[in-house]
Amino acid sequence: MSELQNQVAIITGATSGIGRSVARELGGAGMRLVLTGRREERLRELATDLDACETIAGDITEPSFPGRLLNAAIDRFGRCDAVFNNAGVMHTASIEETDIEVMARMVRINVEAMVRVAYTALKHFRTQGSGHLVNVSSILGTKVRPTAGVYAATKYAVEALSEALRMEVAKSAVKVSTIEPGLVATELQDHFEVHPAKAFGIEQPLKPEDIARCVRFMLEQPAHVRIPVMMVLPGEQPL
Ligand SMILES: NC(=O)c1ccc[n+]([C@@H]2O[C@H](COP(=O)([O-])OP(=O)(O)OC[C@H]3O[C@@H](n4cnc5c(N)ncnc54)[C@H](OP(=O)(O)O)[C@@H]3O)[C@@H](O)[C@H]2O)c1
Repeated sequence: MSELQNQVAIITGATSGIGRSVARELGGAGMRLVLTGRREERLRELATDLDACETIAGDITEPSFPGRLLNAAIDRFGRCDAVFNNAGVMHTASIEETDIEVMARMVRINVEAMVRVAYTALKHFRTQGSGHLVNVSSILGTKVRPTAGVYAATKYAVEALSEALRMEVAKSAVKVSTIEPGLVATELQDHFEVHPAKAFGIEQPLKPEDIARCVRFMLEQPAHVRIPVMMVLPGEQPL
């Protein structure tokens, strides 16, 4: 039996890609889940495959939303042991072509909402005396490329936030981890004119399940072990 059996996790961005796979992986490990994303129908579909699961559809940028997710976990399951802080979008553009409102909206989702979820989770974990926050960054949280400056800036922000929070809770039983995926085949870049898999010649991107296994590995570590950062790349992706 997994040590995660009956523990409770909140997963943001659970309606597709990485978040949906993490929900399936952690549900398979016996975790009880609170799942969120804006697409209600997708949440309903996912919930039919999972035993103990609460779904709440909504926009993660709504300031009261992280508190609602935590309350849902406590009302339904009596506790919250892990938060997978994952919801995000990716927009890229050259200086000439950029739509500043689209970029500003990305900053709200990838940074402001990420910060609100992180602080909501950690205040609860501090009071509870345990808990594990996993923030989703990216390989672009460690390096930049032309046209991806704002997206990379949002992920650099996730890195800075995670590292500072990890230091703050270091002497406690609370854990903070960051995962940095390379290219994963999800819906994230479906709106791109040229998909990064084609642009960078990556025939076999990661699957969302690859990231889900890594997240489960992070959560299954014994109490004394910390994994501050985990970078996960497809074999063909050079750094
Ligand atoms: N795919 C990659 O190559 C890759 C690489 C590195 C890092 N990442 C990161 O991994 C995370 C997950 O991305 P993914 O690849 O799984 O993409 P995805 O398939 O597009 O999933 C994104 C998720 O975020 C949710 N979301 C977006 N905006 C939201 C909002 N305003 N309110 C609530 N939920 C919102 C979406 O749900 P709704 O649309 O239903 O709201 C969806 O569930 C992101 O943080 C991304 O930056 C991805």
